Amino acid sequence: MLSGRDLIEINDFSKEDISEIMDLAQDIIKSPESFSSCCTGKILGTLFFEPSTRTRLSFESAIHRLGGDCIGFSESASSSTAKGESLADTVKTISNYVDIIAMRHPKEGSATLSKDFTTVPLINAGDGGHQHPTQTLTDLLTIMQTKGTFENLTIGLCGDLKFGRTVHSLVKAMSMYPNNKFVFISPEELKIPEYIKINLRSKNIEFVETEKLSSVMGELDILYMTRVQRERFFNEEDYIRLKDSYILTLEKLEDAKKDLAILHPLPRVNEIAVEVDSDPRAVYFKQVKYGVIVRMALILKLLGVK
Ligand code: CP
Repeated sequence: MLSGRDLIEINDFSKEDISEIMDLAQDIIKSPESFSSCCTGKILGTLFFEPSTRTRLSFESAIHRLGGDCIGFSESASSSTAKGESLADTVKTISNYVDIIAMRHPKEGSATLSKDFTTVPLINAGDGGHQHPTQTLTDLLTIMQTKGTFENLTIGLCGDLKFGRTVHSLVKAMSMYPNNKFVFISPEELKIPEYIKINLRSKNIEFVETEKLSSVMGELDILYMTRVQRERFFNEEDYIRLKDSYILTLEKLEDAKKDLAILHPLPRVNEIAVEVDSDPRAVYFKQVKYGVIVRMALILKLLGVK
């Protein structure tokens, strides 16, 4: 039962909960017009204390496509946070105005803190380098639509695995399904956090770490590329040294499987050459479309709309 619940991290949802959302998302793909007035009279609040294109606008698109409305802000400077209001007071106030909240904040743990001050479902739309569960639902729908399964996959994650909250959430999610293997591809300084490896070892889930994408390309069923995130670095020198560590080109894909699926949460800077966009294995712009669909399904479920 998902009605009335919050989504703070992907592990808040069981496999059954995720199946419910995937099934509803697939129904929406088949017949979007059937859902166009499901949320009439409902209001979504988008509280974005950090920049976003896809997450904020796909949430807004989702509620509009369901016949609902949306209010919110896209930067903390245009809210009373700029006058010193606490996050708790902001969230408590806005939960009087809306039926459901999507919130992005630069601080890890901000969503966990906020959920105790809301009276409506709260969706974490990204909290610092911690979690981004609705991107994970987007990634899962993309995987289901392209590979037809969440099982028996070799999943390569490449780039900034240290600060990449989408990576952390996706590994947690795909760890729930049997016989998946993870390949972590990153420079030494941006390796996957130790707590994630401890978790994988505790579940006997196979993983390898490498700095060389070319050495593992041929094994992968999914390649999840990520951006080196300038905003998470403490000094510019380190960012400049690491930002071009991996640039995916058609030449580098020569050894890849014919049915590889290349995902990226976007935005990209230059880690995927534009020439790759027209390769049928590139699904990152389809992923953007699935982001709206899956958020429609999530809103319906959390609001308990039949
Ligand atoms: N994927 C993602 O979170 O993109 P935005 O930062 O544009 O929302």
